[in-house]
Amino acid sequence: MEWIERFIEAKLNPIYRAHYALWIHWWPLWRALYSGRNIQRKWEQFSLVKEGQYFLDYGCGTGDFTIPAARIVGKRGKVYALDCFPRQLKIVEKKSRKAGLSNIETILSNNNTGLPDECIDIVWMCDVLHEIEQRRAVLEDIHRVLKKDGILAIHDSMRDKVLSYTTGLFSLTGRDDKLLRFVK
Ligand SMILES: C[S@@+](CC[C@H](N)C(=O)[O-])C[C@H]1O[C@@H](n2cnc3c(N)ncnc32)[C@H](O)[C@@H]1O
Repeated sequence: MEWIERFIEAKLNPIYRAHYALWIHWWPLWRALYSGRNIQRKWEQFSLVKEGQYFLDYGCGTGDFTIPAARIVGKRGKVYALDCFPRQLKIVEKKSRKAGLSNIETILSNNNTGLPDECIDIVWMCDVLHEIEQRRAVLEDIHRVLKKDGILAIHDSMRDKVLSYTTGLFSLTGRDDKLLRFVK
């Protein structure tokens, strides 16, 4: 179904934009009522997020993982919330203010973090890699910003297909259903 993949990848088209204009209303509910908690349990299971870490939420959407991550990393840590849609980032900023968090910084981008080299402890990409057009270029930038002992955690429905984009950049250290964990 290559044409479907191509269609999805042509994300700048109006249908994709309209989809995301509506998406912001139902997605947080889906995360709050069901899927978010299940995925977050894996953070605990694999000790992924810790106090003091610098955390990059790549394709943060409405911040359903940004906010919990910011609470865990605390004042000594920081969360960078990156998305290609300003609408999503506005929601993250609003949620952050409401939660009284001061350790979240939003980044508007569709392919480049703009962060310094080796400054991030963990990169979290949840249900986003399959949507990214320039997957390899994005992963190369993530490789650059990740610390030597940092972790890249990708949760994606592409499962094994993820490996075709990470090979040569990252080594797989563990997997659990849709969640793949890598180091440099
Ligand atoms: C399905 S949502 C997942 C949101 C969030 N990670 C979560 O799991 O709740 C995918 C998000 O990735 C963003 N996205 C898609 N392509 C992107 C790109 N090239 N760069 C940055 N963000 C992107 C979309 O705008 C959307 O907010």
